[in-house]
Amino acid sequence: MKMLNQQEDEKIPLGIKPHPIASESKETTNDDTEDEDVDDSSIFFDPEIFIDTSYTSSKLEINNTSLEIWALHSASSTDFDLTGQIVWPACRVLALYLSHHPGLIGDRKTLELGAGVGVAGLMAAKFSTNPNNVILTDHNEKVLDVLQKNIDVNFDSAQEKAPLCAMLEWGSDADIFKNKYGTFEVILGADVIFWPDAIPLLFQTVGKLLKKKGGVFLLSYINRNNIYSQLLKTEARSSGLDYLEIDLNESEHFKDIISQEKDAGRTVHLFKFFFPE
Ligand SMILES: C[S@@+](CC[C@H](N)C(=O)[O-])C[C@H]1O[C@@H](n2cnc3c(N)ncnc32)[C@H](O)[C@@H]1O
Repeated sequence: MKMLNQQEDEKIPLGIKPHPIASESKETTNDDTEDEDVDDSSIFFDPEIFIDTSYTSSKLEINNTSLEIWALHSASSTDFDLTGQIVWPACRVLALYLSHHPGLIGDRKTLELGAGVGVAGLMAAKFSTNPNNVILTDHNEKVLDVLQKNIDVNFDSAQEKAPLCAMLEWGSDADIFKNKYGTFEVILGADVIFWPDAIPLLFQTVGKLLKKKGGVFLLSYINRNNIYSQLLKTEARSSGLDYLEIDLNESEHFKDIISQEKDAGRTVHLFKFFFPE
């Protein structure tokens, strides 16, 4: 087992926090390390050993458009935010919606927030007349690796017709990101609202990066707790956004996913946020 001293600890990549065992353990001093009787609880683990990257590839067929997706098939058991390593149900909803409204993307500058393995953003790029106009983002470096892989297997990067992949932490990175890439006509978010603390940061980011005139933020989510529906409306208003819920029950396309989630006691939602005229 490897001992991490403070300097090594600082090298831990963004988005990967030390395992709780490390943070709960007592401080080590030079004296401690020389002590024969080292208490096992003072040993620091290298976070990398807890990260499962045994991705496998599967074909995802969404309304006649197919994507090859590398992902894990169950969440790995760490306390790091590696939620982006698997395909979440709400991204299928958003991808399906885009596939039935291909004109929505066209040549518009498009951004995906919290893309994970990238299903919704890759689908948007498939319908884009210029996939270079599509940027898929996440805040976790490990997730960005598999996201880039999914871009590479679905697009010919050599031909410069592929979407881009970039690091974006909601809140803190929004201004720098805006300076570099400007604002976006379409922003996508799938299953990105299940930490109440992150919702204000998500909407602050959308408030800064969404084009004021004609910009639209499409957010799909599975409601696992009613506080989210209220919180997202409050936070959207704080960022100056209006909203509209798209009634998925009106369309046959979402019947299966709605009924699957209903069986598990959950509801499926798709919202459109925009600045008032
Ligand atoms: C539940 S996963 C959803 C992934 C993907 N959109 C999907 O539907 O399959 C949430 C994603 O949001 C990302 N995320 C969480 N908090 C974030 C933050 N503060 N800034 C940027 N990304 C974040 C995670 O890394 C993860 O990829």
